[in-house]
This record gives sequence, structure tokens and C-alpha cells, in this order.
Amino acid sequence: MTAPAYQNSPTRGARKWSPEVESGGISQFSPVSGGTAWRGKSSLTSIPKGAGYNRQNMERTLAIIKPDAVERKFAGQIIQRIEEAGFRVAAMRLVTLSKPVAEGFYAVHRERPFFPHLTAFMSSGPAVVMVLETDGAIKKWRDLMGATDPAKAAPGTLRAAFGSGIERNATHGSDAPDTAAFEIGYFFPGVDLV
Ligand code: CMP
Repeated sequence: MTAPAYQNSPTRGARKWSPEVESGGISQFSPVSGGTAWRGKSSLTSIPKGAGYNRQNMERTLAIIKPDAVERKFAGQIIQRIEEAGFRVAAMRLVTLSKPVAEGFYAVHRERPFFPHLTAFMSSGPAVVMVLETDGAIKKWRDLMGATDPAKAAPGTLRAAFGSGIERNATHGSDAPDTAAFEIGYFFPGVDLV
């Protein structure tokens, strides 16, 4: 019997992508398909100095504009808010996640009662996945998004403006450096980061 996709995710320590996930359609761009992109946080979230751009103290985080916000045509406004807040977009893709890919991404929540519904929702339509870069990117992006539940998010935050429920909360962001490394590697091979 084939193991659930999340059991082969980097969070479980394995490096190899499963056939289930391959058939989910994300394999053509997912670094995980080749099993080579998960190299820990050093290669994905710490940025080397580049000519003409002071990358010292820069940090990267994974951001998702969720299917609810894409469907309601909020993606453009959210990207504008991201750029106005000073983030540099280091990678971006429009993707429809398969259910196994959504399950692998949210594997940390697999025991939670909302896991089946959350992963069904996240695979229900196109989402925008991005790598955002700035100093303190992880916290800055979480501050810009606001609280997980849009009803509790501060006025002016993205979730307050564009979310409609705790699941349909418009955006996702990594919550720590190790999860940022996992989440960036889940969607983008190193060569896709500009
Ligand atoms: P996100 O930042 O993407 O991380 C996990 C997601 O699970 C979260 O946003 C919410 O959309 C969702 N979530 C968290 N708590 C609940 C809950 N109690 N009921 C439904 N969905 C939840």
C-alpha cells in the first residue's frame, strides 16, 4: 500500500517525492519531485550578497494567496499591498494544488479536525504561491496578513480586508524560519528564486 503523500514530505525526514504527488500535477515544477531541493534553511532562507543589492539581513518567507482570494479577484490588490510594504518578490507561481500536495503542505495540521476540509479547500482552485524577501520577512508578512481569523484581524490587514472566514482567510504565511525553509522548498527549486 502506498503511504499518504505527507509521509514522504520533507517534514517527515524523507527526501523522495511519492507517485501520488507526482500524479497530482505539481511535479513539473515542484523541487520535491526530484527530491533534491530540500537543503534546510541555509540554502533557501538565507540570502547571499548580490551585486547591486544589499542582501545583508534579508530573510525569505513563503506566501500564498489562497483560492478564495484568487477566485474573488483580489490577487492583484494583495500583490500591490505586498510591493507597497517593501517586500521583493523572489518567486511567484499560479498553481492549483492537488489534494495530496495540499495534504503534504499542511502535514503539520494532519491531526486537526479541520485538516480534511482545509486541504479540500486549498485544492479547490488556483492559488498564487510566492517567495517574499525583506529584512525580517517572516514576521513582517504575518503582520501584514493579520490574525488567522479575519474576524479577529486588525483593521487594515490583508485578512481583515480580503478574508471571509478562518479557512477562507485569503493568505498564508510561514510562521518560523524552519517552516519557511520547508515551505519555500516545497514549491520552488533554488533555481526558480531570483
Ligand atoms: P494558514 O495560515 O494557512 O495555516 C493553517 C490554516 O488552517 C489557517 O491558515 C486557517 O485557514 C486554517 N485553520 C486554522 N484553524 C482553523 C479552524 N479552527 N477551523 C478551520 N480552519 C482553521
